[in-house]
Amino acid sequence: MKATDLLKPANREEAELLEKLDVKRLPQHVAIIMDGNGRWAQRRHLPRIAGHRAGVKAARQVIETCVQLQLPCLTLYAFSLENWRRPQAEVAFLMRLLREYLKREMPSIHKNNIRFLVIGRLAQLPEGVRKDIDEAMRLTAHNTGMKLVVALNYGGRAELADAFNAMLEHVRENGLAAFRADEQTISNHLYTAGLPDPDLLIRTSGEMRVSNFLLWQIAYAEIYVTEELWPDFSRARLLEALVDFQKRERRYGGLGSSRSHAAAVDGEAAGRRAQPVRG
Ligand code: FPP
Repeated sequence: MKATDLLKPANREEAELLEKLDVKRLPQHVAIIMDGNGRWAQRRHLPRIAGHRAGVKAARQVIETCVQLQLPCLTLYAFSLENWRRPQAEVAFLMRLLREYLKREMPSIHKNNIRFLVIGRLAQLPEGVRKDIDEAMRLTAHNTGMKLVVALNYGGRAELADAFNAMLEHVRENGLAAFRADEQTISNHLYTAGLPDPDLLIRTSGEMRVSNFLLWQIAYAEIYVTEELWPDFSRARLLEALVDFQKRERRYGGLGSSRSHAAAVDGEAAGRRAQPVRG
């Protein structure tokens, strides 16, 4: 199968990129740090919230493209634990925007067989947001297509602390004096339990940071940073990132490009226990 069988190019640039794309070697999980909404707005002398609105449009197009390419999993970093430090009006707007997004997009997400998941400390989110998230996760719980994971009130270190505390609780409750955690046990207690680790991490707006995002899971991810601000991250820019990913030689600390190196150490090999994504 060719990439153009999955996706009709809208212009010459897309056609050329699709030509270079090998659909058999697409990443299993793309994670994106969507950055630059504020700067996009600032450059246009618009309020920051206009940048966030434009950011939603970019997210919509990326989701649509990933579904068409049949990617198994896409994670978007929408709101970090640190984002509470922003002006209260901006935080309130982001929460409203998310609820608006869920209300408007859920029918089409469901129709496209997408499974909607959220990771992060959900208990600290406003009640209305929590209710809408629960509803969206319930509606799409049995969908078998792409998993769309939105990281909300998320922090990588907080996720690890939550995982360790969950393990300690399990030890205490069951009096397991000899308990030892290996890498698989830790993976199984993360919010992302049951999902493949991201093999491609994209960050927009040029910052060379991982910003406390999926710290454990990106151990072997290829990192792609583009200068493009998130609202300008078009379909062609995503295809470019995928083409770039396919040029990389993935060695997982070994000498060849075989996946078995990683499987041996990060435990992707077999039997990852599927767990519900926790909040
Ligand atoms: C970064 O821009 C983006 C965010 C803080 C997250 C908000 C993301 C969206 C609104 C995209 C929509 C996504 C979904 C799934 C609804 P920034 O404000 O940090 O930009 P700056 O660094 O230029 O200030």
